[in-house]
Amino acid sequence: MMTPRKKNLGEGDVLVLFGATGDLAKKKLFPALYNMALSNHLNCEVVGVASTKWDHKQFINYAFESLRARFSDPDEKVLAFLDKHLNLVVGNYEEQEVYDNLAEVLKDKKAPVIYLAIPPSAFENVTRGLAKAGLMERSRLVVEKPFGRDLNSAIHLQESLEAVLPEERIFRIDHYLGKESVEDILVFRFANAIWEPLWNHRYISSVQITMAEDFGIDGRGAFYDGVGALRDVLQNHLLQVLALIAMEPPSEINSVNMEDEKLKVFRAIEPLQPEDVIRGQYVGFLEEEGVKENSDTETYAAAIVKIDNWRWAGVPFYLRTGKHLKETTLEVIVEFKQPPHMLFADTQRGAPNLLRFRLGKNDGVDIELLAKSPGDQLATIPVQLQVEFSAALGERQEAYERLLRAAIAGDHMRFTRIDSVLETWRILQHVIAGEPHLYPYFKGSWGPERADEIIPNGWVDL
Ligand code: BG6
Repeated sequence: MMTPRKKNLGEGDVLVLFGATGDLAKKKLFPALYNMALSNHLNCEVVGVASTKWDHKQFINYAFESLRARFSDPDEKVLAFLDKHLNLVVGNYEEQEVYDNLAEVLKDKKAPVIYLAIPPSAFENVTRGLAKAGLMERSRLVVEKPFGRDLNSAIHLQESLEAVLPEERIFRIDHYLGKESVEDILVFRFANAIWEPLWNHRYISSVQITMAEDFGIDGRGAFYDGVGALRDVLQNHLLQVLALIAMEPPSEINSVNMEDEKLKVFRAIEPLQPEDVIRGQYVGFLEEEGVKENSDTETYAAAIVKIDNWRWAGVPFYLRTGKHLKETTLEVIVEFKQPPHMLFADTQRGAPNLLRFRLGKNDGVDIELLAKSPGDQLATIPVQLQVEFSAALGERQEAYERLLRAAIAGDHMRFTRIDSVLETWRILQHVIAGEPHLYPYFKGSWGPERADEIIPNGWVDL
């Protein structure tokens, strides 16, 4: 496999969206295009590709419906702009005709950016069709996660992509890398000198990373069954967040240095063993549309990850994710060690200092400290220093908007590199190859009780 070095490719001159009538387009990509147009950042045409036989009007209606659901009062001028700049090519992905038709539409374009917002199982077939139509010689390809479904299939997929285009023109999406709140971890750690002396096993006792959703698979049963929480979230989103918390500072922020540092973290993680992972399935999953009767797909996963290096030896990283949990939240909690000698007589002795990165909708940072409790006694009480980013910083960009802009600009900064992706599959390899043991849990709970037992003092309340 080639060395993953990347160069900047310059601006793409057309954005092609495979899966233009699908769920991702509706929920994330059209709103991202709208925001780009609104801020004058959509400087190229957009060509949707879909197998649904719609004409331009039906396609635009579908796109606008999603925009009206997302924005209370969308700007009519922006809608008119999108109407003019969005086109649709329709055809069966199994037949060459659709790729040849697309090539005809793109014949004057020098650097198409082709985004595959389609199930990963279709990637190979589609890229083959694109290559046959001569499009891979000058296009860059943006692929959604998960990249493969285990180590071997990821290697195979990479080989099939590399047969038609070089690594430097492949952009692998993990949309968490497009979230401003997630990028803030880097700034927080490396722009503020006060953290570095504490950021190691001498002061930190554990790290908890939770991505919980209070909703289910939302009609995506056919996709989700056979993927599950480990492949859908833990292998990518959670391990990427872990890497940002654990990595060494790069000498300079660029895509190569960033990926090099994350890669070192992944390489320092021993493959997870079955006993390091708890998998759960919510009661009712088997009745979901598109899910096989007796499916053993997990909708919840918790894992203990250990990083075998100088900085993190002995510090467990606890990861968990699940559908139909009590709340929708995305948090990293860094738990600090307690003082070596407890001076204050009181009931709160057990409360360690916590640093909380809130990365989801209400993003911000909180620090939980102990203060003197009111009264005669010298006793302690937990207090919080809180920053709400929306209040402090105002509105920020959406992940998909930033990712589309980066792919069009040819910048790899917010995309994953193949060597890192393969390492993350290696970490999960034993676990996903084995027979899953599934613990049932009820909708609206925090997942199976068994997962609480992996942490000596339990999960910190969210
Ligand atoms: C996607 C997963 O990658 O991330 C979904 O496939 C999940 O299952 C989604 O719901 C969560 O993204 P976010 O940005 O809402 O945390």
